[in-house]
Formats: sequence, C-alpha cells, structure tokens
Amino acid sequence: MTDQKDPKPAFRRRVREGLYNVRSFLVHGRYQTGQWDYSHHVIPPLSSSVTYRLDSAERGAMGFEGFAAHEHREPGQQPVYIYDRLDEPTRAMLEDHLAMAEGGEIAICFSTGMAAIAAAFGVLTRVGQHFVAHQTLYGCTYSLLTSWLPRFGVEGSYVDLTDLEALDRSIRPETRVVYFETPTNPTLEIIDIAAVCAVVKKHNAHREQADRIHVVVDNTFASPAQQRPLEHGADLVVASLTKNIGGFGTDMGGAVIGSLKYETDLILYRKDFGGALAPKTAWPILVYGLPTLDLRLGRQAKTARRVADFLAEHPRVAKVHYPGREDFPWRAAAERQMRNFDGDFAPGIMIYFELAGDPEQRFERGRALVNDIAANAYTLTLAVSLGQLRTLIEMPSAMTHSVLPAEVQCGGGIDPGGIRLSIGIEDAHDIIRDLDEALGKLS
Ligand SMILES: Cc1ncc(COP(=O)(O)O)c(C=O)c1O
Repeated sequence: MTDQKDPKPAFRRRVREGLYNVRSFLVHGRYQTGQWDYSHHVIPPLSSSVTYRLDSAERGAMGFEGFAAHEHREPGQQPVYIYDRLDEPTRAMLEDHLAMAEGGEIAICFSTGMAAIAAAFGVLTRVGQHFVAHQTLYGCTYSLLTSWLPRFGVEGSYVDLTDLEALDRSIRPETRVVYFETPTNPTLEIIDIAAVCAVVKKHNAHREQADRIHVVVDNTFASPAQQRPLEHGADLVVASLTKNIGGFGTDMGGAVIGSLKYETDLILYRKDFGGALAPKTAWPILVYGLPTLDLRLGRQAKTARRVADFLAEHPRVAKVHYPGREDFPWRAAAERQMRNFDGDFAPGIMIYFELAGDPEQRFERGRALVNDIAANAYTLTLAVSLGQLRTLIEMPSAMTHSVLPAEVQCGGGIDPGGIRLSIGIEDAHDIIRDLDEALGKLS
C-alpha cells in the first residue's frame, strides 16, 4: 500500500483559521485522506471488511505496533488496518469530521452514545476515585453512574452544577471527573461550561498532571452545530450520534471528542471493551447526517421558537423552557455558549413544558395529552429519542427518566407531568395545530 499525501494539506488549517466554514468541510471532507484515497469518489466509499490482508508478517507486526499510536504517523500516511474493531477507514473518516465539527483533535466513535459515555469514564477513572455529576442526567447515564461505576470502585456526588459553590465544595482529592449535559435532558437547564471549568482549573492548579480533574460535557442536545464545549474549556465532549448528528432516526452511534492525548487510551479501551461503531453505520452519519446537521438544526430551531411561543401563550400551559425565549431562566448562559458555526445564538430544537394544575392534575393532564397525541396527531409522534426529522414528544418522568428516584426527579425539576418535545422539520403551523387540538381537549 502506498502512502497517500494529502494534496491539500493546508485545508484543515484554513478551516480552523475561518477561511472556510466548518459547514463546507462537513460536506467536502479532506478530498484525500490517510485513511483512504477517495479523491476519485464524489461520495466517500463505504468499507465493509472485518479483517485486512496483511501481505507479510512484517507488515502485520507494523500494523500492531502502529495501532493506537497515530501521533507517530506522518500526515497523510495510511494506517495499516488489521481488524475492524481496532480501526477502519469509513469510521475513521467520520471521526476526522466529528473532531473538526467539535473543534477537537480527535474523535473516537462507539456503537451508541452510552458506550461513548462509559468509555469516557473508563479511561478517566479507576478504583477509589470519584466524580461529580450534575443532579439531572439522562436516565441511562444516571443508571450507568449509580449502578455500574460503583461496582468498579468509582463513586459519584450529584450536585446542582448551576451552583458553583456547591461544585467547589463537592470536589475531593480523589475527584477526577466533573460531568454534565448542557442543555440538560429533559429540563434544558444550562450549565455554564466556562464557569465550571474555571472552578476545576482552580483545583487543578494544585494537582499533579496524573491527578487532574477532567470536565466532560455531553453535547447531545445542542450538537456541534449549536455548541462546542471544547471552545469553553471542557476536556472531552461525549455525544450520542443517534440524535441530532445522525438526524434521520435510522442509526445509533456515539463519540468521544477531545485532544490527541486521549486518543490512545480511548482507542485501546474500545479495542478491549468492544462497542466500536460499525462502518455501515458510520457511513450514513458521514454522508447524510453530518453534512446536513447545520441545515436541519437551523430550520428546526426556528420552528422550535414558534412552538415554544405558542405553548407559552396557551392557557393550559404553566411553564415553558426554551433557551431562545427571553423568559428562559438560564438565558444569559445559553447566549454565551450556544452558538452556531457563524457565531450566532443557536438555542436548539428541544422544548420542555409543564401543564397547569396541581401536581396530580399536571400528571393526569400530561398523560392525557401524550395519549391523545399518540392516537390523533399527524406531525407529532409519541416516542423517546430526539433530534430526528420527525417531531417527537414524550413524558420524561414516566419514560426516559423513570429510572431516577422520585426525589431525584423532583430535586432536578422534572415534573411528574413534564413534557419533552424534540422539534422536527415539519411545517411549524402543522405542529402547532396538532398541539392546539390536543391541548384543547384537556379537562
Ligand atoms: C443526553 C443524552 N446522552 C446520551 C444518550 C445516550 O445515547 P444512545 O441512545 O445513543 O446510547 C441519550 C439518549 O437519549 C441522551 O439523551
């Protein structure tokens, strides 16, 4: 196999310097890459080979030696591929693009978002260590952190990370990770990434490199098209590619994105724990999902604003959280950090709302609303997940967050009757009409 030199070696730098928008990069890629010669394909090829011909024992040995040591490769030099779970070209192309989108040096892709989150904790923590997490988390993340990590001797404290003094107090000598989603799932609280990083930096100033605390941000809700946590000081981003980035609702995936120093551990972790993203799944995310991400989310966010305004005016609705609205409780932090590739405020496609009434009425009305929508609405689908072309509605307390104990839900502001909406690309009028009809039937 010959080395393929990138004919446009300065391309990546020019994107970074702002000459080309990342949006263009996500459509065109690097023309030619060390992973594969696709300068002659308009669309990158989908490779589908579990194992690779090694030609000679020497080449095989070279492959194993070079694996997970990409920093020693010349720019543009092709890796010696050995076996799909270790490394492979289609997934590697997606990783290049994801790293660029998030402003990181590397991305490592996993089979799901949960596999990526588990990997981030897997490489950053070990027995006897501790993490601090925000009190409101996606249900499966909560059960990973509370049910599984303690089995490996890693314990967590759950605090309100909008309260920086609480964060400061919760950090212990053995703390290695501060973890949160922003916006949070499902209530859309905004955690100020730069402010959290400043508190962590203060603690890190007195620590050896090996004892550093890492800030890990789940960027699933915003996606890089609307927020890039690494720009605000985070060490690692984790993301479910199943959501906005995949976008079409056909494939699952996850990624961890950050600087080169994390690459070897993450790639070795993936080799041994498995959970690698399949190339047949990487391909649609590379070819359909990422190139259209900014376009889809820009349109969906405009619709989300209109739907949020409609809900806020509706007499049956008591509370609406949408980062784009002026009455959003964490608006200032949202404006600071939720930005699209042009630097404009990008408040996202997610809405959280609560119906009017006492807690019991809110729960009954929430249930009646989603059941009516499941039966009668054309443009809204009762389903978990988010960030798809279709508008999805769900009731977190009974569905995505049911694993959180009632007092944790309550402490994190998840109302028993709270409703989460993920806005799709349908016509805004149609979504509003369907919601209006269902709300009008409530007792
Ligand atoms: C914020 C957040 N993070 C992570 C995940 C997990 O992603 P996946 O379903 O791809 O494992 C989800 C899934 O809903 C999520 O909402």
